[in-house]
Amino acid sequence: MEKALAAVLAAIGTFIVVTLLFAILILLCQRRKTKTSTLPTRQNNPTRTRPVPDPNHSSVSIVDASWSYDPNLKISLAELARATDNFSPHLIVGDGSFGLVYKARLNNGTLVAVKKLSPDAFQGFREFQAEMETLSKLDHPNIVKILGYWSSGPERLLVYEFIERGNLDQWLHEPTTGPEAQESLSDLRLPLSWETRVNIIRGVAHGLCYLHGLEKPIIHRDIKASNVLLDSEFKAHIADFGLARRIDTSKYSHVSTQFAGTMGYMPPEYVAGANVANQKVDVYSFGILMLETGSGRRPNLPVKMGEEDIGLVHWARKMKERSSEMDVVDVNISKEGLREESVKEYVRIACMCTGELQKERPEMPEVVNLLDSMPL
Ligand SMILES: *[C@@H]1O[C@H](CO)[C@@H](O)[C@H](O)[C@H]1NC(C)=O
Ligand SMILES: *[C@@H]1O[C@H](CO)[C@@H](O)[C@H](O)[C@H]1NC(C)=O
Ligand SMILES: *[C@@H]1O[C@H](CO)[C@@H](O)[C@H](O)[C@H]1NC(C)=O
Repeated sequence: MEKALAAVLAAIGTFIVVTLLFAILILLCQRRKTKTSTLPTRQNNPTRTRPVPDPNHSSVSIVDASWSYDPNLKISLAELARATDNFSPHLIVGDGSFGLVYKARLNNGTLVAVKKLSPDAFQGFREFQAEMETLSKLDHPNIVKILGYWSSGPERLLVYEFIERGNLDQWLHEPTTGPEAQESLSDLRLPLSWETRVNIIRGVAHGLCYLHGLEKPIIHRDIKASNVLLDSEFKAHIADFGLARRIDTSKYSHVSTQFAGTMGYMPPEYVAGANVANQKVDVYSFGILMLETGSGRRPNLPVKMGEEDIGLVHWARKMKERSSEMDVVDVNISKEGLREESVKEYVRIACMCTGELQKERPEMPEVVNLLDSMPL
């Protein structure tokens, strides 16, 4: 008799537990849905170029959905909070596209950059997923390394190797001169020489060539000066894979997305409303980066030519037509020892990469060959 009662009680108990679990599951699913339906809003500042987030989430596909995080990369929040002095504002070294970046030292002494992704946005999760999926599996001297992560609920932190000299955007557009530079020699930023600029561009080309040549190619989709970090030897390290997508070559030759990227670096086909992305999108942004790096001019600002205001690409083409490539070169680069044949070849490659049509643009392996064999 008692046995039967126990059995009945056990059955009822099991039923209640199962029902509760279902209810919780349904609740969780609904919460996630409401979260994904809120679009992040982002301020647009014309001088500090920011990426435009994908306006249509459902169409952004991370094609390879079978990603998983390497549990060995997990670093505790306690350690990261200690390393960043509780996310102290004075340790902020960057305002990345999707969160603040802090300089920190881990318990084992390694200097790192910690990116705290904005917790509010759905975008934050996308970026985290994209960075974890792509970066943690890559290994190339021109691509920044991910050393760890921490994630719980909406809070997500990414830990990268620390790259000493900050980003190329600062070096091109925010030189330090005068008294502030005297205070700390390590913060001193003088105009980069032509040779250094060409070597930075070569590094970026090698990194992109590696990404595009993977068995499942990766398109970065946000190549720009602020995503190129410079180490103590001014070697380039491509960073910020928040918009990167893997292309599944067995299915399609492109990723179907709404446009995403940064104003000034986006190819004409995006501006015209095409919603496919492939490697040629990166080639275009790379060409823009070449023009910006060589000329010291921001790609989202017009160039004055006589009475006219024209875009950077158009301007570079005109200079090339007139054989005035030397006038493209940043006025802050010393002209002493600067060889015209080097500048001409550089501008020629940049103009190829920024071809109006995708088929006019070379693939990255060809760009690497051209850059590696160009005179300096
Ligand atoms: C998002 O993209 C999908 C597929 O391309 C489309 O069917 C849908 O209408 C789009 N939604 C919005 C809000 O644009
Ligand atoms: C310190 O820890 C990080 C993250 O776990 C690791 O990548 C790095 O190699 C370690 N450094 C040393 C010197 O052990
Ligand atoms: C280039 O030179 C001009 C004037 O000589 C100066 O105002 C500007 O800050 C310099 N730019 C860089 C990036 O060094």
